[in-house]
Amino acid sequence: MRYLTIALGKGRLANQAMELFEKIGIGCQEMKDKDSRKLIFVNEEHKVRFFLAKGPDVPTYVEYGAADIGIVGSDTIVEEGRNLFEVLDLGFGKCRMCVCGPASARGFLEHSQQIRVATKYPNIAKDYFYNRKHQTVEIIKLNGSIELAPIVGLSEVIVDIVETGSTLRENGLEILEEVCPLSARMVVNQVSMRMENERIGSMIEKLRKLLQSEE
Ligand code: PRP
Repeated sequence: MRYLTIALGKGRLANQAMELFEKIGIGCQEMKDKDSRKLIFVNEEHKVRFFLAKGPDVPTYVEYGAADIGIVGSDTIVEEGRNLFEVLDLGFGKCRMCVCGPASARGFLEHSQQIRVATKYPNIAKDYFYNRKHQTVEIIKLNGSIELAPIVGLSEVIVDIVETGSTLRENGLEILEEVCPLSARMVVNQVSMRMENERIGSMIEKLRKLLQSEE
């Protein structure tokens, strides 16, 4: 039997995903070692291989078939726009994509002014401002600590993830508009879905039942 390969976005999502896999009997003891720098882990009994990738790279591995399955946030799925099947909302990693800034920036949004928007998610930001709000803006791509941008004058607002809201609060910013809710999803390569239908289908079913029972 060939290995089924599962790509996990490094960090909190990966830990929570492994808790779910463990509950359906596909655990991986080796992955629990927090000091390990290993990237690939194998469950020989079930012929499943897990690997840890950067979140935004997970859809890439899955589209090309280097991973049969991926666990990643819906923000990344939408941003990357890859060809893959999204099969399950895993219910964890819940947060929101929002337009944020200082309270004083509210007027820029109401009056459709041509402002600068800093974000790690240029495609989501473009779609929101151009297609939903019909507001022409300049999108500035950043790679992290997005909240800095309006504080130091790089942009008027940001499009970013808000989970608890504490990063915003501690930096004197607030939610100005909500773009969409987000959560962790399971995605599957389109060919794998056909070729490994039985194994992947049964894994999806077990996860679905587990999630329902935990609701
Ligand atoms: C994310 C996001 C916000 C923060 C939101 O950043 O970009 O900055 O978390 O969480 P909160 O509402 O609970 O404060 P992350 O920690 O992933 O780091 P980054 O700045 O490198 O993107």
